[in-house]
Amino acid sequence: MEWWKQTSIYQIYPWSFQDSNGDGIGDLQGILSRLDEIQSLGVETIWFSPFYLSPGEDFGYDIADYTKIDPRFGTMEDCERLIRAIHKRKMRVVLDMVMNHTSDKHPWFLESKSSLSNQKRDFYIWKTGTKKPPNNWISMVGKSGWNYDESTNEYYYSNFLSFQPDLNYRNPKVKKEMFAVLDFWLQKGVDGFRLDIFNSIYKDEGFRNNPFSFRFFPTPDNHDEAFFQKKQYNLNLPESFSFAKEVRKHISKYKHKPFLIGEVSGSDQVLKSFLGEKADGLNLVFQFELIHFQYKAKFFKQLLEKNESVFPSPYTPTYVLGNHDQRRYIDRLGGDLRKAKLLVCFQFMARGVPVVYYGEEIGRKEGRISNFFGKDPIAKMNRFVPLFLSNLLGIYINRDNCRLPMLWDGSKNAGFSKGKPWLPTGSFQSEDTVESQKQDPTSLWNHYQTMFTFRRKMSVIREGSLNTLPTDSDDVLCFERRGSENHLMVYLNFGEKVERLTVTNKGKSLYGFGGANVLGDTLELPPHSGLIWEVGKTKVSKK
Ligand code: NOJ
Repeated sequence: MEWWKQTSIYQIYPWSFQDSNGDGIGDLQGILSRLDEIQSLGVETIWFSPFYLSPGEDFGYDIADYTKIDPRFGTMEDCERLIRAIHKRKMRVVLDMVMNHTSDKHPWFLESKSSLSNQKRDFYIWKTGTKKPPNNWISMVGKSGWNYDESTNEYYYSNFLSFQPDLNYRNPKVKKEMFAVLDFWLQKGVDGFRLDIFNSIYKDEGFRNNPFSFRFFPTPDNHDEAFFQKKQYNLNLPESFSFAKEVRKHISKYKHKPFLIGEVSGSDQVLKSFLGEKADGLNLVFQFELIHFQYKAKFFKQLLEKNESVFPSPYTPTYVLGNHDQRRYIDRLGGDLRKAKLLVCFQFMARGVPVVYYGEEIGRKEGRISNFFGKDPIAKMNRFVPLFLSNLLGIYINRDNCRLPMLWDGSKNAGFSKGKPWLPTGSFQSEDTVESQKQDPTSLWNHYQTMFTFRRKMSVIREGSLNTLPTDSDDVLCFERRGSENHLMVYLNFGEKVERLTVTNKGKSLYGFGGANVLGDTLELPPHSGLIWEVGKTKVSKK
């Protein structure tokens, strides 16, 4: 089975991971100094949010040069050293690739904007509109995606913020340039790309108006109906599905087998179209259902069953609890570490790729920075919306709050920086740091380490089939994993009372947490506890 189907992914947000030079911003040298820590956690693949040259208005998701390192983070030599050091530790590297748009400070855009006849004019999407936008397309941030340029009297299109103009993929020169960028990094040995808003790559050639929808708020897994619009003509176009295959084909010629993981959103059918009918599109896509989980056994059971029926092997589901755009899951659990352990066990034992966002391993909590004082451009756009109101409506406006510095130890600024951190560390207890959690065998960090290690060591978790099984209690989720060498059962109690189940099969407890215990053939599961039961080695019939 291909390596990327079996891996686990750990996301680093470079701004907030580790600062080495005291400027309050994380950097590549800092990350380098923490690689042993990451390796000791058991991580297999590291995904870096962007560290390319950028004005930083969207903290790197506005790129001004795809083949330069932003001096805030270091140099190209630092980057090469980092890639080598990761590989030396038998881990892999995934870079964030923002193909949809550049910064408006990118030389391509500056040229494009300079005149109607400039040779880079067609690198972006320009349209004449007489005093009003050419059509009704709403961007992902809820305003018209059209931006008027006075000097050339035309509008350019941006599906995110106005300083992030969308590239025009109908121009073959744009494709050629972007493929050259991919090659640049693949030749440096990177093992894959996370593709930012890949569902937005193509827009309707005829610029037709989007139809009306009753839906206003987008969700992480559904942007295609929002702000009273069905985004039929500016998101998820069939051309984007085909382009996914083109990019896959392009990277497939590399011997080290790099892969693509797409940030897309929409129905399961849309996700499947990005993956390709023959699984020949993007290798993986982020699946965001866990971002708005309901803490009920039924929710998780249905999710597994849905993924097994819609994305059966060779498709590989992904399980994402958070990222740099979403409220941290620990806060959605009210900080309850017992529940966190349950969720993580689910995430790592399911068939698929778990994606962990830095800090999740220690239950790093959200900040409380108001929208008004946010550095995040989305917060700046909505600065007069009070935090309590956005929280009440369930919309996440100030992404600074999930991007606070990593908590390493009890020293100044939790060991993140010797200078003033770009975002505050926020309040935390001594037991919230990596250093202290490593000493405590019952900590969340140790739980994560166990999960990462099981996945590395047991092929049944990485490759085995998955079936949900009925239980006597609505609060208990039970599923089995069967591989050629082993057979596991996973029991998770989401309820508030102790559950007792009969473990009929021969076998032994592989790992229990939250007080789960087996006495004779009775499995006792206190509230929010879980157990992985090893039924045993399955006989492999040799043909
Ligand atoms: C999605 C990224 O995850 C987000 O952080 C960024 O602001 C937008 N795409 C625009 O690139």
